[in-house]
Amino acid sequence: MLRSRIIGTGAYAPSKVLTNFDLEKLVDTSDEWIMERTGIRERRIAAEDEATSDLSIKAANNAIKMAGIKPEDIDLIIVGTVTPDMFFPSTASIVQGKIGAKNAVAFDISAACSGFIYAMSIADQFIRNGTYKTALVIGAEVLSKIIDWSDRNTCVIFGDGAGAVILRGDNGKSGILSTHLHTDGSMWDLLYIPGGGSRYPVSHQMIDDKLIYMKMKGNETFKVAVKSLEAVILEAIEHNKMKPSDVNWIIPHQANLRIIQAVVKRLDIPIERVVLNIERYGNTSAASVPMALDEAVRDGRVKKDDVIIFEAFGAGLTWASALIRW
Ligand code: ACO
Repeated sequence: MLRSRIIGTGAYAPSKVLTNFDLEKLVDTSDEWIMERTGIRERRIAAEDEATSDLSIKAANNAIKMAGIKPEDIDLIIVGTVTPDMFFPSTASIVQGKIGAKNAVAFDISAACSGFIYAMSIADQFIRNGTYKTALVIGAEVLSKIIDWSDRNTCVIFGDGAGAVILRGDNGKSGILSTHLHTDGSMWDLLYIPGGGSRYPVSHQMIDDKLIYMKMKGNETFKVAVKSLEAVILEAIEHNKMKPSDVNWIIPHQANLRIIQAVVKRLDIPIERVVLNIERYGNTSAASVPMALDEAVRDGRVKKDDVIIFEAFGAGLTWASALIRW
């Protein structure tokens, strides 16, 4: 059976580290509050001249190297991001040009924190229906540039980074066994950036009103996230006629340690089987799943035949899972 197999992973995080103690100097918060309520100790912040495509290219090149392919071998590039370099062209187009993937079709998709799993699911459909053989899928964000650094509700949570995978069509037992995507647009206003688009175009007034920055109703988002993530993981397990105990690794979107703990507790999956790096990177939106995957692949935690579930929840609202046999 033709499946998409992950043959390379890569990640990149900007070098600048912003700790909770640094944030104590910006807003009324504390290292203790942030650690206790989110599990985040520090996050990475892109340099002034670093955009999402720059992070994406570094992650992509690491994945290409691991896969042992050439950029010309790539047929499709999809970038999941809500912080593109610019409105257009797509960040994926910029990546395609700069890495020399001259045979690839390239586009972005917008699904916030679920963006990587959405993008991987789209690439998987193209591979399984035989249209393309090799795809580069990237989740990348420079959230630090859309955050109001005087809003303690959001500025303590987010960070910058990029992760990438190379997918290749293969007839073996391994690969993506399923993906499940969901959207509930009735709650779009739990998490959004009001201005800068066609609703509130850029003006001096909207900048003064801070409409260019992310707004989040964190507590309400938290509750919907826990329920939706439990359901989408169960959906993946049941679809594949498995049990929670068959899952070797959960690779979650790193939104909040308490969300992750609550979800795996409801499913009776031990926290030792969850790949966590939120303490070091915070919530990097679409980048968090492929960044955590890359870490677990490179340090040898993920082994051949392991059953792995990716899951994510974010603005839209969107949520998604992918079940993979490594
Ligand atoms: N430091 C200190 N106190 C704070 C801070 C802070 N940084 N932020 C909020 N507080 C205060 C609040 O003002 C409130 O005080 P009050 O009780 O006096 O009113 C109190 O702490 C509790 O606030 P809550 O918002 O209820 O705190 P909560 O435990 O929910 O944690 C958080 C907030 C971390 C934002 C959490 O709700 C969360 O993680 N939500 C989900 C985020 C998420 O998953 N987003 C989706 C993905 S992101 C994407 O798609 C781009």
